[in-house]
Amino acid sequence: MDLDKALGLIAEVPDFPEPGVLFRDLSPLFADAAGFAAVTDALAGTLDPGVELLAGVEARGFLLAAAVGYARGLGVVLVRKPGKLPSVAGRVDYALEYGTASVELPAGIVRPGQRVAVLDDVLATGGTVAATGKLLEDAGAEVTGVSVVLELAGLGGRAVLGGRSVHSLRTC
Ligand code: PRP
Ligand code: HPA
Repeated sequence: MDLDKALGLIAEVPDFPEPGVLFRDLSPLFADAAGFAAVTDALAGTLDPGVELLAGVEARGFLLAAAVGYARGLGVVLVRKPGKLPSVAGRVDYALEYGTASVELPAGIVRPGQRVAVLDDVLATGGTVAATGKLLEDAGAEVTGVSVVLELAGLGGRAVLGGRSVHSLRTC
């Protein structure tokens, strides 16, 4: 399946999770074998040179990081919501488009100097990816770049990420 058709499987849901938010639901894309494969291949092609590890952000980032990791022969570090990890390297709290959230990095997984790419489904305000980048850098990693399926340009995530290398398959 070509990438445009695959991205066309993403549903738009008005007023979720609260009034005024147009929610992009990737569930139909993930459920379509050819669509998921097309997006996986496209994301695999966005990785910056020398990437050694992928960081997948809970929960939908896990799916993408796992698929791209398999395609590219790379492992995945799971960036998790609080309370899931037995031992954490660090935690960062941040604001979302709706509400607040936190992410944690497991202890002892990322090596100092390791080149890590961040994978997620949607870049909105950029809070999640910025927090993930900080967690990884606090652990001594080098963040090579950020790869997402959708970038919601109106929410300014790219600006929040400063000079990071950001790759999005579609901007809307
Ligand atoms: C969504 C999405 C990104 C984040 C984007 O995750 O999957 O991780 O929000 O928003 P931001 O750029 O404003 O930070 P959510 O917290 O809804 O978690 P989920 O994947 O577990 O549903
Ligand atoms: N879809 C999925 N995740 C999100 C969205 C969205 O529209 N906005 C912020 N996080």
